Amino acid sequence: MEIGARLHHLQLLSPDAGRCAGFYGRAYDMRVRADGPLRICAGHDRRLLVAPGVANRMGFAAFGFPAESAFEAYRRRVESRVPVAAADTPLFRPGAFAVMDPDGNRIVFGVPVVHVPSDVPAVSEAPPARLQHFAFRSSEPSDLLPFYQYTLGFAVSDRVCDGAGRVRACFLRTDAEHHALAIFHAAEARHDHLSFETTEWARLRDWADRMSRLRIPIAWGVGRHGPGNDTFFMIRDPDGNLAEISAELEICASDRAEGRWLHEERTLNLWGSAIMRS
Ligand SMILES: [Fe+2]
Repeated sequence: MEIGARLHHLQLLSPDAGRCAGFYGRAYDMRVRADGPLRICAGHDRRLLVAPGVANRMGFAAFGFPAESAFEAYRRRVESRVPVAAADTPLFRPGAFAVMDPDGNRIVFGVPVVHVPSDVPAVSEAPPARLQHFAFRSSEPSDLLPFYQYTLGFAVSDRVCDGAGRVRACFLRTDAEHHALAIFHAAEARHDHLSFETTEWARLRDWADRMSRLRIPIAWGVGRHGPGNDTFFMIRDPDGNLAEISAELEICASDRAEGRWLHEERTLNLWGSAIMRS
């Protein structure tokens, strides 16, 4: 099933929120403003919050519904299955709620506030890209899947398993886009990456050229992921988190059968080497 919400923003934690937000603002052409200790980064179709905290952790991920009616129906569905708490994020209207997954990750749902034009750069210096998905690491992804699949109603697009059948990665969608969330098996539970989807393969080149001008080296890629079939490259933020530009992610039919991949480098990059989380 698909719930019809899209990833809208993420709150990352950082021991130096100003530096971390400044990096994302520069790399992804977002205006950064301070709201107390919080940093709000906003660009065209992309928003990120950075709050003071330990490195490599996510404060929350926030999914937005296009209309109050769909949001209220979803809230009733989730409330009947799991405790929910009020959530406060400056980018959502009042009434947003949060749930906690079995690893302690906070997932927020709500309706975005109307875009304030002065919050984003007037002229975009960068090619288009929309915040599209995020990923975290877990010591036992298979323990999380029932929560995301049955409690929250996310759809599993692809699952990556080792020879013993153990889940090593899983890709889940909330609408037709192949994944809004990826979970990777790893020794340590932590944030893995966030990803901005650009409009086509040629724009990936333009983003890579932009990073080069900014002297931000590519940490992984250019490559093509097996699950999702998207082309991509990744950079690293000052805290060591990965951040991605992706293009041409698979669009799924609602009745698409769940896919299975073998846990090997080729699955994570059909073109070559991969960053293996375990
Ligand atoms: Fe990704």
